[in-house]
Amino acid sequence: MNKVLVSLLLTLGITGMAHAAGDAQAGQGKVALCVACHGTDGNSPLPNFPKLAGQGEKYLLKQLKDIKAGSSPTAAPGTGRKILEMTAMLDSYNDQDLLDIAAYFSSQKTAVGFADPALVEHGERLFRGGKLELGMPACTGCHAPNGAGIEAAAYPHLGGQHAAYTAKQLTDFREGDRTNDGDAQIMRSIAAKLSNKDIEALASYIQGLH
Ligand code: HEC
Ligand code: HEC
Repeated sequence: MNKVLVSLLLTLGITGMAHAAGDAQAGQGKVALCVACHGTDGNSPLPNFPKLAGQGEKYLLKQLKDIKAGSSPTAAPGTGRKILEMTAMLDSYNDQDLLDIAAYFSSQKTAVGFADPALVEHGERLFRGGKLELGMPACTGCHAPNGAGIEAAAYPHLGGQHAAYTAKQLTDFREGDRTNDGDAQIMRSIAAKLSNKDIEALASYIQGLH
């Protein structure tokens, strides 16, 4: 290959791209520490531990990097995503490990739960219609009508997730306790428009969504 072309490819990182893929089978061998809380196949048994099964690979990888950066005992406040239960847990995993783990959980099937019939109407109205009077967009625009998210944009899959976990995330975004949604503060600005009742209804609706 022509030298100029080789150096151009190296500069663009194109030659390295072929390696930047996750291997789900290798990932399965790297999750022994995780399964007590997240379940062997990523369908966690407890409602405050998120299901990872069927989650988008890109979103999972971003969270793993954010959690690794934010959950080290020496992380500066506001860095990445701080999860006490996962303190220092990802320190010994390199980038390839995180890619493989993301590929593994993403390849599993989400076990969908149920919505509380008393909350469905309120939850569905907000999920599909937003709160236009307050300038809050519908959730469907980014998380899709069936809650599958948009993989390429790293917009997470929500459908079937435990209601307790979803409610905690929306509350954490609203209160500024979760801040890893980027400089545009997409989720913080949306959650700022939600009441506790809205959050309860949305979380229940999402638990049964598929
Ligand atoms: C002691 C329990 C525990 C263990 C062990 C654990 N986690 Fe977690 N994990 C949690 C909790 C709790 C949360 C959610 C915290 C919150 O409320 O934001 C979480 C969140 C996550 C998330 C974010 C999910 C999302 O939808 O944004 C990922 C990804 C994750 N864990 C991966 C892992 C991996 C990989 C391992 C193993 C290396 C692991 N966890 C081990 C408790 C645990
Ligand atoms: C403009 C796009 C957009 C809209 C509209 C939107 N979201 Fe999100 N949402 C995101 C992005 C991006 C993230 C991931 C942030 C990150 O990287 O940590 C996210 C994350 C989440 C999470 C955390 C998922 C997890 O596994 O931890 C929940 C829950 C959520 N959104 C619920 C909602 C609900 C409910 C609505 C409607 C009221 C909504 N979102 C509207 C883009 C959006």
